[in-house]
Order: sequence, then C-alpha cells, then structure tokens
Amino acid sequence: MLERLERLPTDPILGLMSLYRADTDPRKVDLGVGVYRDDQGRTPVLSSVRRAEQTVLSRQDTKSYVAAAGNAGFNQAMARLVLGEGHPALAADRVRSIQAPGGCGSLRLGAELFRSAQPDMVIHVSTPTWANHVPLMSGCGLKLERYPYYDPASGGVKFDAMLGTLDRLPARSAVLLHASCHNPTGADLSEAQWRELLDLFKRRTLLPFIDIAYQGLGTGLAEDAFGIRLFCAELPEVAVAVSCSKNFGLYRERTGCLHVISESPKAGDAILSHLVRIARSIYSMPPDHGAAIVHEILGDPALREQWIDELAGMRKRMTGLRHEFVKQLARSCPQRDFRFIAAQRGMFSFLGVDTPQVHALREQHHVYMTDDSRINIAGLSADNLDYVAQAVAQVLRN
Ligand code: LMR
Repeated sequence: MLERLERLPTDPILGLMSLYRADTDPRKVDLGVGVYRDDQGRTPVLSSVRRAEQTVLSRQDTKSYVAAAGNAGFNQAMARLVLGEGHPALAADRVRSIQAPGGCGSLRLGAELFRSAQPDMVIHVSTPTWANHVPLMSGCGLKLERYPYYDPASGGVKFDAMLGTLDRLPARSAVLLHASCHNPTGADLSEAQWRELLDLFKRRTLLPFIDIAYQGLGTGLAEDAFGIRLFCAELPEVAVAVSCSKNFGLYRERTGCLHVISESPKAGDAILSHLVRIARSIYSMPPDHGAAIVHEILGDPALREQWIDELAGMRKRMTGLRHEFVKQLARSCPQRDFRFIAAQRGMFSFLGVDTPQVHALREQHHVYMTDDSRINIAGLSADNLDYVAQAVAQVLRN
C-alpha cells in the first residue's frame, strides 16, 4: 500500500538548507531559513542559555516525566513575558497555558482546539503568511481562507483592504495574526492599527489566534507584544502561540507554549483539559530541556538581564543591517527604491524580485533565498553586504 505514495516536493524553506549546504562556492550567502546569525555567519548558543543550561543539568536528578501540560513554572513565566506583569487577564485568572514542542507545536495545538470546539471553523490567514502556517492549520481539518495584508508597492500593510475583508467575515471566524516581525514580509501593524483591528474583532465577534515567534527581535519585548496585550485585555477569547526558537536561540530544543485566554477560570480549565487530551493524542508530552532553560533564565534576575542584553544585541544588529543594506542597494541599484527594508522589522523582508531572478541569484551568485524573494536579514554581514547588493543589481539588469 505504501509504495503507491508519490514523492512530494521539498519544503520551500527547509529544502533551501540542504541546497545551501551542498553548494561548495566560497562566496555563498544564506538568506534562507529564519535562523539568527552573527557577523561571522554563526548561530551561537546565547551565554545566558549556556549558563542556565549548566544549572539545569547540575540540578537534574531524574529523567522522569514532567507533567501533561509541561513545566508549570515555564508556562507561567512565559505568560508573564508575553502579556506583561500584572496583565488584567492574568489577574483575573483567565489564562491557561500548555508547553508545546516549539512554535509549530503551539500553533497545531491551537488549531486542533479550534477544530474540536467548532468542526466547521474557517481560519483566515494573511496574504502572504509563513509557508508552514498553511499545513499547520489545515492539516487538522480547519478550512483556510486568506485576507489581504502585504502591499508590495509601499512595503507596508494594505490595512484598508485587510479591514474590508475581515469586516465581511461571519461571526466566530478565526483569524491568524502575526504579533510582530511578520514572516515573511517584515511589515507590521502600528499601535493605532491594532486598536482599529480590536474594534473590528469586537464588532464582528472574531476569534484571534496570534503567533508570536520574534518577541524582542523587532522593536522591544513590550512593543513586539503590544497587539497581544491589547487583545487579551479587551476580548473574551484569544489564543496565543509562542516560540522560544529565535529570541532564546533554542531552535533545536523545540520550546514553545500556547496560551488561551477565555472568559472565566471555569472555561479556562475546560479548555486546558482539551489541550492536554489533544497533546496526549499527538506526542503525549513536550520535551523538557529548552523549557527548563527558559524557566531558569526568566526566574533569575541576573540571567534575565543578560538574556535581555543579548536579545537587544541581536535586534540592533538586524536593524543596523537593514539600514546598511538599503545604503548598498541605493548605490548598486539607484533606479529602484529599497528604503522599505529599513522601515520593516524583524528577521525578514521581501526583496521584491521575481522567481526567475531569485533562481539567478542562487545559480549565478550563490545567494540563497526562498522563491518569493524573502530574505533573512541576519544572513547579511559586513563581509557580504556589498556582494549581495551587486548580485541583486546584476539580476535586475538582465
Ligand atoms: C523560517 O521561517 O524560516 C523559520 O521559522 C524556520 C522554519 O521552520 O520555517
């Protein structure tokens, strides 16, 4: 029976990792997978993570199971990190959290929860959205539809078109939003736009599912969670999927959690019972190590401060690279305006070249990015900025 299966195309993001590794050209540049890199192109273990890890390992005296919902201390610390200390939803005991294997695990748990609550639910995602949102949401049977989001002409958000579409949705539709550092476009909502969106969600009784995978890598820890904090204070129900892959650099440790804000502690307890059952039916319990590290960092004032400094270092490097890249592009491609790259936030931007030009960049210049021309800003460095800008100029000329 299994031999009938046909080979599938490789994942649009992960497939690039193997192509890049196989390329032996010394000039190669990896702007593909969304992993932070330093100026030497490395993805180092953060010093705060290294220190916390040593403490965690020296204290560990068992490998027995932790708990169905994972590490309770981690879940609580993450709820406070995302919502902010003293948030009204925390004070009212309206938040329930479950640790999950990375941001993907959290997103899938949320999608499965929505499907259990309302089997015919439709979830609306931005155009474009992170490629893996599509299988994560639709893989459990949720129907997926799209709302307008990115405006290639301005490099910003098509906010009126977004509002127009969301304003026509039936009540109780779910909408997937990016908290900040929108993947793949880098175009974020302003605070005023979040407020306007909130009115619409209230008026239309929509259910927000907010993905936060880059807290602290855009503008700051509080600023990057502005929309979440607002929505969770003002709406009866919100789901928030959190990843610790990027801001703690814990990619391979698969560390994340799902927070669900509901109307009452009783409703929250019922929701959590479903989440635990769903997790049990997929992977039973999440891995411990990454969550134990994050719990240690967030609970120790000195480690926390060190982590916040390291996070600020990553953020500043990417913001600086955005400005430098725009300068280099202005020199090499004066006919085209790339200033939108400096106005955007986080790890990604669309370069705005077409797929044949993306392939020419890969095949002729060994510069790797996804076919939609998404670039990982952190893959740029003082050594390759000029090379990449020249390569872009060449493909635009041809
Ligand atoms: C990305 O968008 O490149 C990252 O989030 C990695 C991934 O799993 O796709």
